[in-house]
Amino acid sequence: MSQPHPKKLLRAAVQAARAAGQLMRKNLRATKHIDSEVQYDIKLALDVRCQKIIEKSLRACYPDISILGEEESTGDPDTPLRWVVDPIDGTVNFAYGIPHACTSIALQQRMPNPPRRRAGKSDPISPAPYRTLLGVVYDPFADELWTALRGGPARLNGRAVHVSTRDRLDRSIVSIGFAKGPESLARMLPVLNRLIPRVRKIRMMGAAALALTYVASGRFDGYVESGIRLWDIAAGGLILECAGGDFEHEALDNQHTYRLSATNGLIKRQLDRVRAG
Ligand code: IPD
Ligand code: CA
Repeated sequence: MSQPHPKKLLRAAVQAARAAGQLMRKNLRATKHIDSEVQYDIKLALDVRCQKIIEKSLRACYPDISILGEEESTGDPDTPLRWVVDPIDGTVNFAYGIPHACTSIALQQRMPNPPRRRAGKSDPISPAPYRTLLGVVYDPFADELWTALRGGPARLNGRAVHVSTRDRLDRSIVSIGFAKGPESLARMLPVLNRLIPRVRKIRMMGAAALALTYVASGRFDGYVESGIRLWDIAAGGLILECAGGDFEHEALDNQHTYRLSATNGLIKRQLDRVRAG
């Protein structure tokens, strides 16, 4: 497959994100069918419907690019390009009628595998290497669309955005996320306790992709979470980097789970120090 044109790919991702967003907007106040729930998470029938809309839209333009999605994955996973899709990021907000949720779509390219380590060494977690080529995050409730093409500026509704210039943690707003399991709670509660007295404000908004685009736009100065999944952060991570920020994500397993530290770059060392304890 010859490499499709980046701007066309971006247009396709924007079109898919807007289509899912339209369905989200229409259903914000509707009674929603819950497919499954546990204490810390809900899966809605609308998650799947939005994913299907995105899949249909992307595959109509690019039938050969596989899709790794929160709700399902389709196509040959060994293709050199893959879409990484979170149809609804912030599902719990959306389920409760809170208008803070979004659609997140990234396009990733598979990179050559790094040389194998010598046998006998403890095996570090090394998911197949991919790099993100483009990212789209769409908040249908605020009608805010963030886009980025690797190497270019990050844009919000077409206008370039940049991270904040705040360099003091005690003047910063830091967003924190609690992923879905008790392990994430156990890891992040001490971090929350250490951070609260050190920052201006903590925010827990419940949509990782928006936390990243808020850092990219200078609204937040940092965002930390542990146990976050790739589809929540792939698009927002590139948008943040293109906005001049620092997107540090370390794999916790080979199942697309990460420990994340995202900042404007200027407060990174202070934030990392407090996080480490
Ligand atoms: C969740 C949200 C939340 C974050 C969780 C994610 P979902 O994604 O992004 O903010 O704290 O870790 O799983 O389930 O709403 O797509
Ligand atoms: Ca989701």
